[in-house]
Amino acid sequence: MRIGGQAPLTSGELSSYRMAMSLPISGGGPGVPGREPTHKALDLRKMMNLGMAVEEAAGDEPITVDAIDELALEEGVDTSHLYAAAAMTTEVEFARHNDVAFVTCGGNCQHWGALECIEHLVSLRQKRIEAGKTAFDIEAKRCLDKCEHGPVVLVRSPLGTAVIARATKESLSTAVAETCDSSPADEVE
Ligand code: FES
Repeated sequence: MRIGGQAPLTSGELSSYRMAMSLPISGGGPGVPGREPTHKALDLRKMMNLGMAVEEAAGDEPITVDAIDELALEEGVDTSHLYAAAAMTTEVEFARHNDVAFVTCGGNCQHWGALECIEHLVSLRQKRIEAGKTAFDIEAKRCLDKCEHGPVVLVRSPLGTAVIARATKESLSTAVAETCDSSPADEVE
């Protein structure tokens, strides 16, 4: 059941989200970058409510790009917020449409720019679709187990999986061009 933006959360729900987002955020301890945070993470309560909205939009099926775009308009939020919120749920899977998928961390890496990375990937994908080029899928996970290198993005392609550590717009643009422009779909054309 969908719970609206003002709905109260149970203490259990809130603490589960808090656990996922309240890792030590700097200082070089194990599992976190030794750099000061550069970005603000989404509010936990907002993310929790968006996560439930994503779950409802998905139903029992993997959620599609169109459904995420529609929900972003409906909720008046950036698309990246929905990917990050979806990453915090255990129920939502992302529909696959392409050979290549960029899997982003939507968890604590938010403190080092994960949301910007997701938004940039969404923009790149849209531009490729409009240009008639091979596109790629975007997924988000709560953690990719390489927290000290955040923001972390995995690239899954028919050639295997690559890790982009300390991802930036530039490194993501390069990875998209390198993987999608040489994908089997392009070679067939
Ligand atoms: S929080 Fe672990 S890889 Fe981002």
